Amino acid sequence: MEFKIRPMNSTDLPDTLSWRNDPEVRKTSITNDIISAKEHEAMFLYNNAIKLIFEVENKSCGYIQISVDPDTKKGEWAFHISNKYKGKGLSTIMLSLALYYLKEKYEYKEIEANVKVDNKVSIHLHSKLGFKCQYERDRLYYYTKKL
Ligand SMILES: CC(C)(COP(=O)(O)OP(=O)(O)OC[C@H]1O[C@@H](n2cnc3c(N)ncnc32)[C@H](O)[C@@H]1OP(=O)(O)O)[C@@H](O)C(=O)NCCC(=O)NCCS
Repeated sequence: MEFKIRPMNSTDLPDTLSWRNDPEVRKTSITNDIISAKEHEAMFLYNNAIKLIFEVENKSCGYIQISVDPDTKKGEWAFHISNKYKGKGLSTIMLSLALYYLKEKYEYKEIEANVKVDNKVSIHLHSKLGFKCQYERDRLYYYTKKL
């Protein structure tokens, strides 16, 4: 199987909007409102986060967004996988490739994540990838990993 990480482009807007508005993704997000196509497009155009697409056999199936701090070289990420591709262990491959991409292409030194305390899958994934939980606040675990 061929796996790839690439930058998001405007042709990804319909897929990424439907993934973003999926009830399970909204439940695990910090902001959980449904967003419109216009709001989604504005975020794509004007929010300066790095936005990456994960492909399996040339099919888009996941999204990773990393907030940018060019001074500290620390980034905070959030991610999801399309429902069609869930439960197959693909997130470990997606996130491992993304960590490599962020280190090599953007020279990131550290990745951070805020994970809801009831998001068992994400907690498992962050531990498996070597993230360390630094503290809990407001029902969020704050994870970091040095690259
Ligand atoms: C998190 C997400 C990307 C994982 O996708 P996935 O690859 O389909 O997840 P999988 O079902 O393959 O499970 C991944 C791992 O979690 C484990 N897992 C699944 N359910 C679990 C549970 N209830 N408790 C602990 N671990 C669990 C799986 O066994 C698997 O472990 P392994 O890879 O070591 O074998 C996906 O569920 C998603 O998009 N969720 C909504 C958005 C989200 O939560 N993003 C993270 C925000 S910080």
